[in-house]
Amino acid sequence: MILKNGHHVDTVLEHTGRDPANNFGIVNPPVYHASTILFPSLEALLETRIDRASGAFEGITYGREGTPTTRAFEQAITDLEGGYRAVTLPCGLGAIATSLMAFLKAGDHLLMPDQLYGPARQFCDDVLAKFGVEVTYYDGTIGAGIAGLMKPNTSVVYLESPGSLTFEVQDVPAIARVAHHHGAKVLMDNTWASPIFFHPLAHGVDVVIHAATKYISGHSDLMLGVAVCNAASFVPVKKTASTAGYCGGPDDVYMALRGLRTLGIRMRRHHESAMAIAAWLQRRPEVHRVHCPALPDSPGYAIWKRDFLGASGLFGFTLKPCSDSAFAAFLDHTDLFKLGYSWGGYESLMVPTYPATLRSRTRWDAPGPSVRIHVGLENVDDLIRDLEQAFARLHAAP
Ligand SMILES: Cc1ncc(COP(=O)(O)O)c(C=O)c1O
Repeated sequence: MILKNGHHVDTVLEHTGRDPANNFGIVNPPVYHASTILFPSLEALLETRIDRASGAFEGITYGREGTPTTRAFEQAITDLEGGYRAVTLPCGLGAIATSLMAFLKAGDHLLMPDQLYGPARQFCDDVLAKFGVEVTYYDGTIGAGIAGLMKPNTSVVYLESPGSLTFEVQDVPAIARVAHHHGAKVLMDNTWASPIFFHPLAHGVDVVIHAATKYISGHSDLMLGVAVCNAASFVPVKKTASTAGYCGGPDDVYMALRGLRTLGIRMRRHHESAMAIAAWLQRRPEVHRVHCPALPDSPGYAIWKRDFLGASGLFGFTLKPCSDSAFAAFLDHTDLFKLGYSWGGYESLMVPTYPATLRSRTRWDAPGPSVRIHVGLENVDDLIRDLEQAFARLHAAP
Protein backbone atom coordinates (compact mmCIF):
# COMPACT_ATOMS: atom_id res chain seq x y z
CA MET A 1 0.00 0.00 0.00
CA ILE A 2 1.50 3.33 -1.11
CA LEU A 3 1.00 6.41 1.07
CA LYS A 4 2.79 9.75 1.49
CA ASN A 5 5.55 10.71 -1.02
CA GLY A 6 5.03 7.42 -2.87
CA HIS A 7 6.32 5.46 0.13
CA HIS A 8 4.99 2.14 1.36
CA VAL A 9 3.11 2.23 4.68
CA ASP A 10 6.06 0.48 6.39
CA THR A 11 8.36 3.34 5.38
CA VAL A 12 5.89 6.04 6.39
CA LEU A 13 5.51 4.35 9.81
CA GLU A 14 9.22 4.80 10.56
CA HIS A 15 9.66 8.37 9.32
CA THR A 16 6.44 10.24 10.02
CA GLY A 17 5.94 12.36 13.16
CA ARG A 18 9.60 13.06 13.91
CA ASP A 19 12.16 15.60 12.81
CA PRO A 20 15.71 14.74 13.99
CA ALA A 21 17.23 17.59 11.94
CA ASN A 22 15.50 20.07 14.24
CA ASN A 23 16.02 18.03 17.40
CA PHE A 24 19.81 17.84 17.81
CA GLY A 25 19.82 14.72 15.59
CA ILE A 26 17.87 12.81 18.23
CA VAL A 27 15.79 10.13 16.54
CA ASN A 28 12.58 10.44 18.56
CA PRO A 29 10.66 13.66 19.22
CA PRO A 30 10.94 15.07 22.76
CA VAL A 31 8.15 14.81 25.33
CA TYR A 32 6.94 18.32 26.09
CA HIS A 33 5.29 18.64 29.49
CA ALA A 34 3.40 21.89 29.39
CA SER A 35 0.44 23.84 30.61
CA THR A 36 1.71 27.43 30.26
CA ILE A 37 3.29 28.56 27.01
CA LEU A 38 5.24 31.86 27.23
CA PHE A 39 5.09 34.45 24.46
CA PRO A 40 7.93 36.90 23.81
CA SER A 41 5.59 39.78 22.97
CA LEU A 42 1.99 40.84 22.68
CA GLU A 43 2.32 40.55 18.93
CA ALA A 44 3.48 36.93 19.18
CA LEU A 45 0.68 36.12 21.64
CA LEU A 46 -1.96 37.57 19.31
CA GLU A 47 -0.45 35.81 16.29
CA THR A 48 -0.70 32.35 17.80
CA ARG A 49 -4.13 32.93 19.34
CA ILE A 50 -6.64 30.23 18.58
CA ASP A 51 -9.22 31.65 16.21
CA ARG A 52 -12.28 29.59 17.05
CA ALA A 53 -14.39 31.28 14.38
CA SER A 54 -12.16 30.24 11.51
CA GLY A 55 -11.01 27.07 13.22
CA ALA A 56 -7.31 27.95 13.04
CA PHE A 57 -5.75 25.77 15.70
CA GLU A 58 -2.21 26.17 14.44
CA GLY A 59 -0.16 27.64 17.23
CA ILE A 60 1.18 26.15 20.45
CA THR A 61 -0.83 28.23 22.89
CA TYR A 62 -1.73 26.22 25.98
CA GLY A 63 -1.05 22.64 27.08
CA ARG A 64 -4.66 21.56 26.66
CA GLU A 65 -4.61 22.45 22.95
CA GLY A 66 -1.60 20.20 22.36
CA THR A 67 2.17 20.50 22.38
CA PRO A 68 4.73 19.58 19.67
CA THR A 69 4.58 16.00 21.06
CA THR A 70 0.84 15.89 20.36
CA ARG A 71 1.35 17.40 16.92
CA ALA A 72 3.98 14.75 16.08
CA PHE A 73 1.58 11.95 17.04
CA GLU A 74 -1.27 13.57 15.12
CA GLN A 75 0.93 14.04 12.05
CA ALA A 76 1.92 10.36 12.13
CA ILE A 77 -1.60 9.00 12.40
CA THR A 78 -2.86 11.49 9.80
CA ASP A 79 -0.22 10.32 7.32
CA LEU A 80 -1.07 6.68 7.98
CA GLU A 81 -4.81 7.18 7.50
CA GLY A 82 -4.40 9.57 4.56
CA GLY A 83 -6.33 12.28 6.42
CA TYR A 84 -6.21 16.07 6.70
CA ARG A 85 -5.54 16.48 10.42
CA ALA A 86 -6.10 14.50 13.63
CA VAL A 87 -7.32 15.32 17.11
CA THR A 88 -5.88 13.58 20.18
CA LEU A 89 -8.37 12.53 22.87
CA PRO A 90 -7.90 10.97 26.30
CA CYS A 91 -9.14 7.49 25.25
CA GLY A 92 -10.98 5.67 22.49
CA LEU A 93 -14.39 6.21 24.05
CA GLY A 94 -13.54 9.91 24.39
CA ALA A 95 -12.74 9.98 20.66
CA ILE A 96 -16.11 8.35 19.87
CA ALA A 97 -18.07 10.74 22.13
CA THR A 98 -16.23 13.84 20.87
CA SER A 99 -16.68 12.93 17.20
CA LEU A 100 -20.40 12.27 17.69
CA MET A 101 -20.95 15.50 19.62
CA ALA A 102 -19.11 17.44 16.89
CA PHE A 103 -21.82 16.71 14.33
CA LEU A 104 -24.99 16.27 16.40
CA LYS A 105 -27.41 18.71 17.99
CA ALA A 106 -30.82 18.44 19.65
CA GLY A 107 -33.43 17.23 17.18
CA ASP A 108 -30.94 15.31 15.01
CA HIS A 109 -31.20 11.65 14.13
CA LEU A 110 -28.22 9.29 14.50
CA LEU A 111 -27.77 5.83 12.95
CA MET A 112 -25.61 3.44 14.98
CA PRO A 113 -24.78 -0.21 14.13
CA ASP A 114 -26.40 -2.72 16.44
CA GLN A 115 -23.05 -4.56 16.80
CA LEU A 116 -21.55 -1.46 18.41
CA TYR A 117 -18.90 -1.31 21.16
CA GLY A 118 -21.04 -1.47 24.34
CA PRO A 119 -19.88 1.73 26.09
CA ALA A 120 -20.49 3.72 22.86
CA ARG A 121 -24.08 2.42 22.91
CA GLN A 122 -24.35 3.57 26.52
CA PHE A 123 -23.11 7.03 25.56
CA CYS A 124 -25.83 7.27 22.91
CA ASP A 125 -28.60 5.96 25.17
CA ASP A 126 -27.62 7.77 28.36
CA VAL A 127 -26.09 11.04 27.17
CA LEU A 128 -27.05 11.85 23.58
CA ALA A 129 -30.69 10.84 24.16
CA LYS A 130 -30.78 13.15 27.18
CA PHE A 131 -29.74 16.04 24.93
CA GLY A 132 -32.49 15.34 22.39
CA VAL A 133 -30.68 13.21 19.80
CA GLU A 134 -32.80 10.39 18.38
CA VAL A 135 -30.79 7.16 18.01
CA THR A 136 -31.73 4.30 15.68
CA TYR A 137 -29.72 1.08 15.77
CA TYR A 138 -29.35 -0.64 12.41
CA ASP A 139 -28.14 -4.07 11.41
CA GLY A 140 -24.48 -3.47 10.53
CA THR A 141 -24.76 -5.81 7.55
CA ILE A 142 -27.52 -3.69 5.95
CA GLY A 143 -25.25 -2.17 3.25
CA ALA A 144 -26.99 0.18 0.83
CA GLY A 145 -30.27 -0.80 2.50
CA ILE A 146 -29.48 1.90 5.03
CA ALA A 147 -31.25 4.23 2.59
CA GLY A 148 -34.51 2.98 4.09
CA LEU A 149 -33.53 4.29 7.53
CA MET A 150 -32.35 7.76 6.54
CA LYS A 151 -34.54 10.63 7.71
CA PRO A 152 -34.43 14.32 6.75
CA ASN A 153 -32.75 15.00 10.12
CA THR A 154 -30.20 12.14 9.98
CA SER A 155 -26.93 13.98 10.46
CA VAL A 156 -24.54 11.14 11.37
CA VAL A 157 -24.16 7.54 10.21
CA TYR A 158 -21.68 5.68 12.38
CA LEU A 159 -19.84 2.45 11.53
CA GLU A 160 -17.74 -0.04 13.40
CA SER A 161 -16.38 -2.82 11.24
CA PRO A 162 -16.05 -5.58 12.16
CA GLY A 163 -18.59 -5.16 14.95
CA SER A 164 -17.60 -5.63 18.57
CA LEU A 165 -17.87 -9.17 19.98
CA THR A 166 -19.56 -10.74 16.92
CA PHE A 167 -17.37 -9.33 14.12
CA GLU A 168 -19.91 -8.60 11.35
CA VAL A 169 -18.29 -6.74 8.43
CA GLN A 170 -19.92 -3.58 7.09
CA ASP A 171 -20.09 -2.47 3.45
CA VAL A 172 -18.41 0.86 4.18
CA PRO A 173 -18.45 2.37 0.65
CA ALA A 174 -22.13 1.48 0.10
CA ILE A 175 -23.21 2.96 3.44
CA ALA A 176 -21.03 6.07 3.01
CA ARG A 177 -22.47 6.71 -0.47
CA VAL A 178 -26.05 6.65 0.84
CA ALA A 179 -25.20 8.75 3.91
CA HIS A 180 -23.50 11.44 1.84
CA HIS A 181 -26.35 11.46 -0.67
CA HIS A 182 -28.58 12.44 2.27
CA GLY A 183 -26.10 15.02 3.59
CA ALA A 184 -25.02 13.02 6.67
CA LYS A 185 -21.49 12.71 8.05
CA VAL A 186 -19.90 9.25 8.19
CA LEU A 187 -17.87 8.30 11.27
CA MET A 188 -16.09 4.97 11.72
CA ASP A 189 -14.30 3.13 14.52
CA ASN A 190 -11.26 1.58 12.79
CA THR A 191 -9.57 0.24 15.92
CA TRP A 192 -9.80 -3.42 14.88
CA ALA A 193 -7.98 -3.08 11.56
CA SER A 194 -5.64 -0.21 12.49
CA PRO A 195 -4.32 1.94 9.61
CA ILE A 196 -2.30 -1.09 8.46
CA PHE A 197 -5.30 -3.12 7.31
CA PHE A 198 -8.05 -0.63 6.42
CA HIS A 199 -8.30 2.99 5.26
CA PRO A 200 -11.81 4.28 5.94
CA LEU A 201 -11.19 7.76 4.47
CA ALA A 202 -10.43 6.15 1.09
CA HIS A 203 -13.79 4.35 1.32
CA GLY A 204 -15.89 7.48 1.93
CA VAL A 205 -15.65 7.95 5.71
CA ASP A 206 -15.27 11.52 7.05
CA VAL A 207 -13.82 10.85 10.52
CA VAL A 208 -11.80 7.77 11.51
CA ILE A 209 -11.76 6.93 15.21
CA HIS A 210 -9.10 4.88 16.95
CA ALA A 211 -8.76 3.64 20.48
CA ALA A 212 -4.99 4.21 20.39
CA THR A 213 -5.10 2.32 23.69
CA LYS A 214 -5.11 -0.86 21.55
CA TYR A 215 -2.89 -1.61 18.53
CA ILE A 216 -1.47 1.85 17.94
CA SER A 217 0.25 1.95 21.33
CA GLY A 218 0.44 -1.86 21.40
CA HIS A 219 1.82 -2.41 24.91
CA SER A 220 -1.24 -2.36 27.23
CA ASP A 221 0.15 0.52 29.27
CA LEU A 222 -1.80 3.64 28.33
CA MET A 223 -5.19 5.11 27.45
CA LEU A 224 -5.46 7.31 24.35
CA GLY A 225 -7.85 8.09 21.51
CA VAL A 226 -7.54 9.86 18.19
CA ALA A 227 -9.94 11.10 15.52
CA VAL A 228 -8.46 11.46 12.03
CA CYS A 229 -10.52 13.88 9.94
CA ASN A 230 -10.90 14.88 6.32
CA ALA A 231 -10.58 18.60 5.56
CA ALA A 232 -14.28 19.38 6.02
CA SER A 233 -14.52 17.59 9.37
CA PHE A 234 -11.43 18.71 11.27
CA VAL A 235 -12.67 22.02 12.68
CA PRO A 236 -15.91 20.68 14.24
CA VAL A 237 -14.04 17.79 15.92
CA LYS A 238 -11.13 19.94 17.12
CA LYS A 239 -13.49 22.66 18.37
CA THR A 240 -15.56 20.11 20.30
CA ALA A 241 -12.47 18.57 21.92
CA SER A 242 -11.07 21.98 22.75
CA THR A 243 -14.36 23.34 24.12
CA ALA A 244 -15.13 20.23 26.17
CA GLY A 245 -11.58 20.23 27.56
CA TYR A 246 -10.34 16.91 26.20
CA CYS A 247 -6.65 16.30 25.59
CA GLY A 248 -4.05 13.53 25.87
CA GLY A 249 -1.27 13.40 28.47
CA PRO A 250 2.24 14.01 27.03
CA ASP A 251 3.79 10.74 28.21
CA ASP A 252 0.89 8.69 26.85
CA VAL A 253 1.08 10.50 23.52
CA TYR A 254 4.84 9.89 23.35
CA MET A 255 4.48 6.18 24.16
CA ALA A 256 1.72 5.78 21.57
CA LEU A 257 3.99 7.31 18.93
CA ARG A 258 6.81 5.02 20.07
CA GLY A 259 4.54 1.96 19.86
CA LEU A 260 3.32 3.00 16.42
CA ARG A 261 6.76 2.39 14.88
CA THR A 262 6.28 -1.39 15.12
CA LEU A 263 2.59 -1.42 14.18
CA GLY A 264 3.19 -2.97 10.73
CA ILE A 265 5.18 -5.99 11.88
CA ARG A 266 2.96 -6.47 14.93
CA MET A 267 -0.25 -6.44 12.87
CA ARG A 268 1.09 -8.97 10.36
CA ARG A 269 2.15 -11.29 13.18
CA HIS A 270 -1.25 -10.86 14.91
CA HIS A 271 -2.92 -11.73 11.58
CA GLU A 272 -0.82 -14.83 10.98
CA SER A 273 -1.23 -16.27 14.48
CA ALA A 274 -4.93 -15.34 14.74
CA MET A 275 -5.69 -17.14 11.48
CA ALA A 276 -3.85 -20.26 12.65
CA ILE A 277 -5.75 -20.28 15.94
CA ALA A 278 -9.12 -19.46 14.33
CA ALA A 279 -8.70 -22.39 11.92
CA TRP A 280 -7.59 -24.66 14.79
CA LEU A 281 -10.62 -23.63 16.88
CA GLN A 282 -12.93 -24.39 13.93
CA ARG A 283 -11.70 -28.00 14.05
CA ARG A 284 -12.28 -28.39 17.81
CA PRO A 285 -15.35 -30.51 18.69
CA GLU A 286 -16.17 -28.20 21.65
CA VAL A 287 -16.55 -25.13 19.40
CA HIS A 288 -19.92 -24.25 17.87
CA ARG A 289 -18.71 -21.37 15.66
CA VAL A 290 -15.72 -19.08 15.17
CA HIS A 291 -16.59 -15.45 14.42
CA CYS A 292 -13.71 -14.13 12.37
CA PRO A 293 -14.31 -12.25 9.09
CA ALA A 294 -11.05 -13.50 7.55
CA LEU A 295 -12.23 -17.15 7.58
CA PRO A 296 -13.45 -18.02 4.06
CA ASP A 297 -16.73 -19.47 5.35
CA SER A 298 -17.52 -16.40 7.44
CA PRO A 299 -20.58 -14.36 6.36
CA GLY A 300 -18.47 -11.17 6.11
CA TYR A 301 -15.60 -12.75 4.18
CA ALA A 302 -16.39 -11.36 0.69
CA ILE A 303 -16.51 -7.74 1.88
CA TRP A 304 -13.53 -8.21 4.20
CA LYS A 305 -11.52 -9.62 1.29
CA ARG A 306 -12.61 -6.78 -1.00
CA ASP A 307 -11.80 -3.91 1.40
CA PHE A 308 -9.31 -5.02 4.08
CA LEU A 309 -5.61 -5.79 3.74
CA GLY A 310 -5.45 -8.15 6.70
CA ALA A 311 -7.07 -9.24 9.95
CA SER A 312 -6.03 -8.31 13.45
CA GLY A 313 -5.62 -10.64 16.42
CA LEU A 314 -9.14 -10.13 17.75
CA PHE A 315 -12.07 -12.46 17.02
CA GLY A 316 -14.78 -14.42 18.79
CA PHE A 317 -15.99 -17.97 19.19
CA THR A 318 -18.99 -19.70 20.67
CA LEU A 319 -18.75 -22.99 22.53
CA LYS A 320 -21.26 -25.81 22.35
CA PRO A 321 -23.49 -25.92 25.45
CA CYS A 322 -21.51 -26.62 28.63
CA SER A 323 -21.97 -26.12 32.36
CA ASP A 324 -20.97 -22.89 34.11
CA SER A 325 -18.24 -24.77 35.94
CA ALA A 326 -16.88 -26.20 32.68
CA PHE A 327 -16.82 -22.70 31.16
CA ALA A 328 -15.03 -21.35 34.23
CA ALA A 329 -12.56 -24.24 34.05
CA PHE A 330 -11.89 -23.31 30.40
CA LEU A 331 -11.10 -19.66 31.20
CA ASP A 332 -9.43 -20.07 34.59
CA HIS A 333 -5.79 -21.07 35.10
CA THR A 334 -4.63 -20.53 31.52
CA ASP A 335 -0.91 -20.03 31.39
CA LEU A 336 -0.73 -17.59 28.45
CA PHE A 337 -4.29 -16.45 27.59
CA LYS A 338 -4.99 -14.22 30.57
CA LEU A 339 -8.49 -13.09 31.47
CA GLY A 340 -8.93 -9.36 30.99
CA TYR A 341 -10.67 -6.53 29.12
CA SER A 342 -9.07 -4.58 26.35
CA TRP A 343 -6.92 -5.97 23.55
CA GLY A 344 -4.35 -4.78 21.01
CA GLY A 345 -1.32 -5.27 23.25
CA TYR A 346 1.47 -7.76 22.60
CA GLU A 347 -0.11 -10.33 24.91
CA SER A 348 -2.91 -12.86 24.46
CA LEU A 349 -6.21 -12.43 26.27
CA MET A 350 -9.65 -13.99 26.54
CA VAL A 351 -12.86 -12.60 27.98
CA PRO A 352 -16.40 -14.02 28.18
CA THR A 353 -18.94 -12.05 26.11
CA TYR A 354 -22.72 -11.72 26.22
CA PRO A 355 -23.62 -10.29 22.78
CA ALA A 356 -27.37 -10.92 23.10
CA THR A 357 -27.58 -8.38 25.94
CA LEU A 358 -25.95 -5.62 23.87
CA ARG A 359 -28.23 -5.41 20.84
CA SER A 360 -31.77 -4.27 20.15
CA ARG A 361 -32.24 -4.53 16.39
CA THR A 362 -30.72 -7.90 15.57
CA ARG A 363 -30.86 -11.30 17.26
CA TRP A 364 -27.88 -13.20 18.59
CA ASP A 365 -28.61 -16.85 19.19
CA ALA A 366 -25.82 -19.02 20.52
CA PRO A 367 -26.21 -22.49 22.02
CA GLY A 368 -23.33 -22.07 24.47
CA PRO A 369 -21.13 -19.40 26.02
CA SER A 370 -19.20 -16.90 23.89
CA VAL A 371 -15.61 -15.77 24.18
CA ARG A 372 -13.62 -12.89 22.71
CA ILE A 373 -10.02 -13.86 22.10
CA HIS A 374 -7.03 -11.64 21.42
CA VAL A 375 -4.14 -13.52 19.86
CA GLY A 376 -0.91 -11.85 20.92
CA LEU A 377 2.65 -12.06 19.69
CA GLU A 378 3.68 -15.20 21.58
CA ASN A 379 4.73 -18.35 19.73
CA VAL A 380 1.59 -19.74 18.11
CA ASP A 381 2.31 -23.38 19.04
CA ASP A 382 2.62 -22.38 22.70
CA LEU A 383 -0.72 -20.57 22.43
CA ILE A 384 -2.40 -23.61 20.90
CA ARG A 385 -1.00 -25.82 23.67
CA ASP A 386 -2.43 -23.39 26.23
CA LEU A 387 -5.88 -23.67 24.62
CA GLU A 388 -5.57 -27.46 24.40
CA GLN A 389 -5.03 -27.55 28.17
CA ALA A 390 -8.01 -25.21 28.66
CA PHE A 391 -10.22 -27.63 26.68
CA ALA A 392 -8.89 -30.52 28.75
CA ARG A 393 -9.92 -28.65 31.94
CA LEU A 394 -13.36 -27.97 30.40
CA HIS A 395 -13.88 -31.73 29.90
CA ALA A 396 -12.61 -32.58 33.39
CA ALA A 397 -14.92 -30.09 35.11
CA PRO A 398 -18.06 -31.40 36.87
C1 LIG B 1 -13.86 -1.24 19.22
C2 LIG B 1 -13.50 -0.37 20.38
N1 LIG B 1 -13.59 0.96 20.22
C3 LIG B 1 -13.30 1.79 21.24
C4 LIG B 1 -12.90 1.33 22.46
C5 LIG B 1 -12.65 2.29 23.59
O1 LIG B 1 -11.31 2.55 23.78
P1 LIG B 1 -10.78 3.03 25.20
O2 LIG B 1 -10.78 1.84 26.08
O3 LIG B 1 -9.43 3.59 24.88
O4 LIG B 1 -11.72 4.10 25.67
C6 LIG B 1 -12.76 -0.04 22.66
C7 LIG B 1 -12.30 -0.58 23.97
O5 LIG B 1 -12.32 -1.75 24.24
C8 LIG B 1 -13.09 -0.92 21.60
O6 LIG B 1 -13.04 -2.26 21.76
